[in-house]
Amino acid sequence: MDKLVITGGRPLEGAVRISGAKNAALPAMAATLLAPGVHRLRNVPRLRDTQTFARVLELLGAKLSFEGNLLTIDTQGVNSVEAPYELVKTMRASIYVLAPLLARFGQARVSLPGGCAWGPRPVNLHLSGLQAMGAALEIESGYIVGRDVKLKGATIAFDVVSVGATVQLLMAAVLAEGTTVLENVALEPDVIALGEMLVASGARIAGLGTRRLTIHGVRALRPVDTEIIPDRIEAATFAAAAAMTGGNIRLEGVVPGHFEAPLGKLEEAGCVVQRSVDTVSVSGPPRPKAVNVVTQPFPGFPTDMQAQMIAVCAIAGGTSVVEDTIYLDRFTHVQELARMGARIELKGNVAVVTGVARLSGAQVMATDLRASASLVIAALAARGETVIDRIYHLDRGYETLEKKLGALGAEIRRVN
Ligand code: EPU
Repeated sequence: MDKLVITGGRPLEGAVRISGAKNAALPAMAATLLAPGVHRLRNVPRLRDTQTFARVLELLGAKLSFEGNLLTIDTQGVNSVEAPYELVKTMRASIYVLAPLLARFGQARVSLPGGCAWGPRPVNLHLSGLQAMGAALEIESGYIVGRDVKLKGATIAFDVVSVGATVQLLMAAVLAEGTTVLENVALEPDVIALGEMLVASGARIAGLGTRRLTIHGVRALRPVDTEIIPDRIEAATFAAAAAMTGGNIRLEGVVPGHFEAPLGKLEEAGCVVQRSVDTVSVSGPPRPKAVNVVTQPFPGFPTDMQAQMIAVCAIAGGTSVVEDTIYLDRFTHVQELARMGARIELKGNVAVVTGVARLSGAQVMATDLRASASLVIAALAARGETVIDRIYHLDRGYETLEKKLGALGAEIRRVN
C-alpha cells in the first residue's frame, strides 16, 4: 500500500493550478445517461472516484475515453440498468445513476451504498423524493429496484439540505412528465453547475441559485460539451497548507466566490488573501490565530474543509472551537493529529483545539479523504518526518497531490 513521506517545516511558495472538482464531475458524468449520444466533459480530474464512476458507466454499456482531462462519454449504447454493490460500496456517489436510469429506461437496479467511515449517511431523501415522483421502489437483496417507472412532476420539500438528494431529484425532474418543484435545495456550486449543464442540454429549470427550483419536464435532452468547475475544496486545502506553513502561494484557475467561507476563516486566522477573477493568493502568518468554525451547507463553511481547518487550529495561538453540523462523526483525523502532538478534545460533534507551537512528525494513518488531507497539511508544518499510511483515500479526491505540493517546495514523496 502506498504511503506518503513528508518532511515538514518548509513554507509553500509559488503557484498551483487547481483541478476540476470531483463533486461536480460525478453528477455531470451521471447526467450524460439522460441524453443518449456523445458528451464531452472537459477539465475532469483524473482521480480514483472519477475512474470508479467511469467503470459504473461502462458496466451500464456506455463507452468512455479519457484524453488528459477531456472525458468523452457515449451513452447511446447503454443497455444495462444495474449498478453493482462492488462499485457502489467503494463510492457512494454511484447512486447518482439511479434517477437517470429511471428517467431513461423506467427501470433500475442500484445497490444501496451501506455505511460510511464516519457514520450513517442515509439516502432516504433520494428515495422518498423519487417515490413522490411516482417511482415505486423496492429494496431487494441490498439493491434499490424500480420497474415500470414513469416519473411524474411533484412538489418535494427537503427537510435537510442535501447535495446528493438535490442532484438526484433534479436529474429525475428534467425528463419527468409535468412540473416538479424542489424546495430547500442545496446551493453548492456543484449543484448549480449540474443545473447549468442540464439547461445546456435542453432542460427547463427556473430558480437556479435559489433554494427553490421549478423544473418543467421535457421529452428529450441533447448531449453536451461542458467544462467541470474548479475544485473549491482542493483550492481551500492548498490555502490551508499555505496558512499552516507560513507560505505564500497563488491558486490558479479558481472561482474565489466558491470558497469564500474558508478564505474568510483563514483571513481571521491571520492570512493575507488577495482575490482576482480566477486566482487567489494566500500568504500565511508566522503563526495562525485561533478561530471558531461551524460547518454549514453552502455558502457556509464546508464540512469537506473541517478536518483541514482543525489542522490549522492545531498550531494556532489560542483555543479554537470547530463544530461539524453536517456529519456529526466526521472526526477520525483527531486521533491521528493527536499522534503528531495536537491537543484536541472531542465533545460529540465539537472539537476544542488548543493550539501548540509546533506539531511533530509521526507515523499516522489516513482514514478518509479529507482526514488524509488534514494529515498532509499538518505534516507539511510539523517538525521532522511524517509517514502517512493508506493514502489511497487521498487519491480519491486530489489530483497529483504530491506533485503539486512538491512544485510548491514541499519535501514529499510516495513510497510503497
Ligand atoms: N442526508 C439525509 N438524507 C439523505 C441525504 C442526506 O439525512 O437522503 C443528510 C446527511 O446525513 C448529511 C446532510 O444530509 O447530514 C448533507 O448530506 P449530503 O446529502 O449533502 O451529502 P452527499 O451528497 O452525500 C456531498 C459530497 C460530500 C460532502 C457533502 C456535504 C459528493 C459526491 N459528495 O455528499 O463530499 O461532504 O455533500 O457537503 O458531492 C468529499 O468530497 O470528501 C465528500 C464527502
